[in-house]
Amino acid sequence: MKILVLQGPNLNLLGERKPEVYGLTGLPELQKYISEYFKKIEISFFQSNHEGEIIDQLHAARGKYDGVVLNAGALTHYSYAIRDAIESIAVPVVEVHISNVHNREEFRRQSVIAPVCLGSVSGFGIYSYILGIQAVAHQLKDGRQV
Ligand code: DQA
Repeated sequence: MKILVLQGPNLNLLGERKPEVYGLTGLPELQKYISEYFKKIEISFFQSNHEGEIIDQLHAARGKYDGVVLNAGALTHYSYAIRDAIESIAVPVVEVHISNVHNREEFRRQSVIAPVCLGSVSGFGIYSYILGIQAVAHQLKDGRQV
Protein backbone atom coordinates (compact mmCIF):
# COMPACT_ATOMS: atom_id res chain seq x y z
CA MET A 1 0.00 0.00 0.00
CA LYS A 2 1.35 3.42 -0.97
CA ILE A 3 0.19 6.61 0.72
CA LEU A 4 1.16 10.21 -0.03
CA VAL A 5 1.21 12.68 2.87
CA LEU A 6 0.67 16.04 1.20
CA GLN A 7 1.21 19.27 3.09
CA GLY A 8 0.22 22.78 2.09
CA PRO A 9 1.32 26.34 2.90
CA ASN A 10 3.35 27.17 6.00
CA LEU A 11 3.65 23.57 7.14
CA ASN A 12 7.37 23.75 6.35
CA LEU A 13 7.55 25.99 9.44
CA LEU A 14 6.26 23.33 11.83
CA GLY A 15 8.17 23.42 15.10
CA GLU A 16 8.74 27.19 14.77
CA ARG A 17 5.26 28.46 13.85
CA LYS A 18 2.87 29.00 16.77
CA PRO A 19 4.19 26.04 18.79
CA GLU A 20 1.36 26.50 21.30
CA VAL A 21 -1.02 25.55 18.47
CA TYR A 22 1.05 23.31 16.16
CA GLY A 23 3.56 21.82 18.63
CA LEU A 24 7.33 21.65 18.65
CA THR A 25 7.89 18.92 16.09
CA GLY A 26 9.51 20.13 12.86
CA LEU A 27 8.53 18.80 9.41
CA PRO A 28 11.53 16.40 9.01
CA GLU A 29 10.87 14.96 12.51
CA LEU A 30 7.16 14.63 11.72
CA GLN A 31 7.99 12.71 8.54
CA LYS A 32 10.35 10.42 10.50
CA TYR A 33 7.70 9.84 13.17
CA ILE A 34 5.11 8.87 10.55
CA SER A 35 7.48 6.61 8.57
CA GLU A 36 8.60 4.79 11.73
CA TYR A 37 5.02 4.37 12.95
CA PHE A 38 3.92 2.44 9.87
CA LYS A 39 6.12 -0.53 9.03
CA LYS A 40 3.94 -2.04 6.33
CA ILE A 41 2.81 1.06 4.45
CA GLU A 42 5.05 2.84 1.96
CA ILE A 43 4.69 6.53 2.75
CA SER A 44 5.91 9.45 0.64
CA PHE A 45 5.89 13.11 1.60
CA PHE A 46 5.50 16.39 -0.24
CA GLN A 47 5.07 19.92 1.05
CA SER A 48 4.49 23.09 -0.95
CA ASN A 49 3.51 26.65 -0.25
CA HIS A 50 1.98 26.87 -3.74
CA GLU A 51 -1.59 25.90 -4.50
CA GLY A 52 -0.80 24.77 -8.07
CA GLU A 53 1.88 22.36 -6.84
CA ILE A 54 -0.62 20.77 -4.44
CA ILE A 55 -3.01 20.33 -7.39
CA ASP A 56 -0.20 18.86 -9.54
CA GLN A 57 0.62 16.37 -6.78
CA LEU A 58 -3.03 15.33 -6.49
CA HIS A 59 -3.16 14.71 -10.24
CA ALA A 60 0.16 12.83 -10.15
CA ALA A 61 -1.18 10.60 -7.35
CA ARG A 62 -3.38 8.84 -9.95
CA GLY A 63 -2.01 5.35 -10.56
CA LYS A 64 0.90 6.00 -8.20
CA TYR A 65 -0.65 6.07 -4.71
CA ASP A 66 -3.54 4.19 -3.13
CA GLY A 67 -4.49 7.11 -0.93
CA VAL A 68 -3.58 10.67 0.03
CA VAL A 69 -3.54 12.27 3.49
CA LEU A 70 -3.80 16.01 2.95
CA ASN A 71 -3.17 18.89 5.31
CA ALA A 72 -3.96 21.74 2.94
CA GLY A 73 -3.26 24.40 5.60
CA ALA A 74 -5.25 27.60 5.05
CA LEU A 75 -6.12 26.50 1.49
CA THR A 76 -8.58 24.13 3.20
CA HIS A 77 -10.82 27.07 3.89
CA TYR A 78 -11.07 28.62 0.43
CA SER A 79 -9.44 26.64 -2.39
CA TYR A 80 -12.14 25.47 -4.77
CA ALA A 81 -9.32 24.50 -7.14
CA ILE A 82 -8.01 21.96 -4.63
CA ARG A 83 -11.55 20.78 -3.98
CA ASP A 84 -12.05 20.23 -7.73
CA ALA A 85 -8.71 18.39 -7.98
CA ILE A 86 -9.72 16.00 -5.17
CA GLU A 87 -13.09 15.48 -6.83
CA SER A 88 -11.41 14.80 -10.19
CA ILE A 89 -9.26 11.88 -9.03
CA ALA A 90 -10.37 8.42 -7.96
CA VAL A 91 -7.66 8.23 -5.27
CA PRO A 92 -9.24 8.60 -1.80
CA VAL A 93 -8.15 11.69 0.14
CA VAL A 94 -8.38 12.18 3.91
CA GLU A 95 -8.28 15.73 5.27
CA VAL A 96 -6.12 16.24 8.36
CA HIS A 97 -5.37 19.16 10.66
CA ILE A 98 -2.98 19.33 13.58
CA SER A 99 -5.11 21.85 15.46
CA ASN A 100 -8.83 21.62 16.17
CA VAL A 101 -10.07 23.90 13.39
CA HIS A 102 -13.47 24.14 15.11
CA ASN A 103 -12.30 25.81 18.30
CA ARG A 104 -10.25 28.55 16.66
CA GLU A 105 -11.11 31.55 14.45
CA GLU A 106 -14.47 31.49 12.67
CA PHE A 107 -12.91 31.24 9.17
CA ARG A 108 -11.23 27.94 10.05
CA ARG A 109 -14.57 26.27 10.74
CA GLN A 110 -15.35 26.03 7.08
CA SER A 111 -13.57 23.44 4.94
CA VAL A 112 -14.35 23.63 1.24
CA ILE A 113 -12.52 20.33 0.69
CA ALA A 114 -14.32 18.26 3.37
CA PRO A 115 -17.32 17.35 1.15
CA VAL A 116 -15.06 15.66 -1.41
CA CYS A 117 -12.78 13.91 1.10
CA LEU A 118 -13.27 10.45 2.56
CA GLY A 119 -13.33 12.05 6.01
CA SER A 120 -11.55 14.52 8.23
CA VAL A 121 -9.31 14.36 11.31
CA SER A 122 -8.65 17.51 13.31
CA GLY A 123 -7.27 18.43 16.70
CA PHE A 124 -4.96 15.58 17.69
CA GLY A 125 -1.62 17.29 17.08
CA ILE A 126 0.75 15.30 14.90
CA TYR A 127 -1.22 12.17 15.82
CA SER A 128 -3.89 13.48 13.39
CA TYR A 129 -1.63 12.22 10.57
CA ILE A 130 -1.45 8.73 12.13
CA LEU A 131 -5.24 8.64 12.42
CA GLY A 132 -5.64 9.90 8.85
CA ILE A 133 -3.30 7.22 7.46
CA GLN A 134 -5.04 4.51 9.51
CA ALA A 135 -8.40 5.71 8.21
CA VAL A 136 -7.42 5.60 4.55
CA ALA A 137 -5.61 2.24 5.01
CA HIS A 138 -8.70 0.79 6.70
CA GLN A 139 -10.93 2.02 3.91
CA LEU A 140 -8.64 0.50 1.28
CA LYS A 141 -8.42 -2.86 3.07
CA ASP A 142 -11.79 -3.38 4.73
CA GLY A 143 -13.97 -0.47 3.63
CA ARG A 144 -16.02 -2.44 1.18
CA GLN A 145 -16.78 -5.19 3.69
CA VAL A 146 -18.40 -3.08 6.41
C1 DQA B 1 -4.01 23.62 9.86
C2 DQA B 1 -5.19 24.53 10.24
C3 DQA B 1 -5.35 25.63 9.20
O1 DQA B 1 -6.45 26.47 9.56
C4 DQA B 1 -4.12 26.47 9.13
O2 DQA B 1 -4.24 27.48 8.16
C5 DQA B 1 -2.87 25.67 8.92
C6 DQA B 1 -2.74 24.42 9.65
C7 DQA B 1 -3.73 22.56 10.94
O3 DQA B 1 -3.01 21.63 10.64
O4 DQA B 1 -4.21 22.68 12.07
O5 DQA B 1 -1.97 26.07 8.22
O6 DQA B 1 -4.33 22.94 8.66
